[in-house]
Amino acid sequence: MDSAGRSGYPVGLIPVVVIDDFRSAAQLARVLADSGATAIEITLRTPDAFRAIESAINQGGLSVGVGTVTNVEDLRRSCAAGVDFAVSPGFRSDIVTEAQNLGVLAIPGVATATEIMMAAANDVTLVKFFPAAATGGVAALRAFAEVFPDTRFMPTGGIAEADVRAYLAIKSVVAVGASWLAPRAMIIERRFAEIGATYARASASVSDLVS
Ligand code: 3PG
Repeated sequence: MDSAGRSGYPVGLIPVVVIDDFRSAAQLARVLADSGATAIEITLRTPDAFRAIESAINQGGLSVGVGTVTNVEDLRRSCAAGVDFAVSPGFRSDIVTEAQNLGVLAIPGVATATEIMMAAANDVTLVKFFPAAATGGVAALRAFAEVFPDTRFMPTGGIAEADVRAYLAIKSVVAVGASWLAPRAMIIERRFAEIGATYARASASVSDLVS
């Protein structure tokens, strides 16, 4: 398997991170890779986010994605930095189209059947189911997966550690994103060993469900 999975999708447990100081990014990426992570989503929620993305790229073989992409300009800037995938909280056809033009995997957010159909009509095959817990959780996703067998899902948003297995047990779910895999406070405090241990433990508990 390559770093982002055979399909080119991010697979398994994806830390969704907020990085306040870009100087933490490289070490964070390396510790996550050493702990078994194959991908990280760095959100555009801090002034340092773009520099953090640049620093994380090429560290430890991790696939680096950008998160919280809400406009085309941010997408272009992230793609220029070299991200492997771009995650948005919702669906915008201009973002998806531009990502496709730039050869970067777009993972738009969806919370309804209508949005899944809009994404599919724009040749999107992997969507972020967001906010997963508040939008019906595992039961809702099971229903969507049944109706849209060609769509792959990456649920994120309020997913507790105890619920991860239930999501990954759904065949169409290729990855689960969560911030507790690398909490913002721990990154600020540079508790990298703890982050690595947290990731390794969580990852081991679902290894049988990740392909
Ligand atoms: C996000 O975009 O912040 C992700 O959905 C992570 O959500 P979480 O903090 O609830 O894990």
